[in-house]
Amino acid sequence: MNQDKKQRVAQAAMEFVEDDMVVGVGTGSTVNCFIDELAAIKHRIEGAVASSVATAERLKQRNVPLLSLNSVNGLPVYIDGADEATRHLQLIKGGGGALTREKIAAAASDRFICIVDDTKMVDVLGAFPLPVEVIPMAQSYVAREMLKSGGQPVLRQGFTTDNGNVILDVHNLSIINPVELEQKINEITGVVTNGLFAKRRADALLIADDNQVIKLTA
Ligand code: 5RP
Repeated sequence: MNQDKKQRVAQAAMEFVEDDMVVGVGTGSTVNCFIDELAAIKHRIEGAVASSVATAERLKQRNVPLLSLNSVNGLPVYIDGADEATRHLQLIKGGGGALTREKIAAAASDRFICIVDDTKMVDVLGAFPLPVEVIPMAQSYVAREMLKSGGQPVLRQGFTTDNGNVILDVHNLSIINPVELEQKINEITGVVTNGLFAKRRADALLIADDNQVIKLTA
């Protein structure tokens, strides 16, 4: 059932892909469906910029031309999934651990299109533990700082990000003001970034339910 929703929302995202475009591609199982859609029209686009090693590998396997973000003049569109989303188009991302490169791609994009199924929709962000990418040396310090903010940090065991860092998944945060919390956590020394996409939220959110794909725009 969820796989069907992922496929339909991935198909719907193709509306935003135009001929000769450079397409930013996120990470995760929903985006994997989008990669299959993109591969079907790979000769019509200039290429794709990947937000993770896993996505780059998948694009390569399907012979989609791969470009580095530094070789292009920004991204006209960036398509990615989310772990939680609100009707205000604010997100928690990073369940797959690719949050930092995803945040860079979103920042560099003219249009950030988020694709989810309806199980990801929430009124208030934070039931999904907030991923925080941390320089390994700062792990204990950042964990203590997160405890002071009322969260319970848990080290993601056996996981290293594409950037060589660790992830703290922070449980039980009360995310009343996502923009403020995003900034506050990012100010802790040793934090690379956190999975709140609130300041740079999505420009459009595509939500697949059992019957249709709904589009919300900023
Ligand atoms: C990876 C992400 C993904 O977008 C998020 O985890 C959603 O993944 P999925 O589509 O598999 O549910 O942020 O870092």
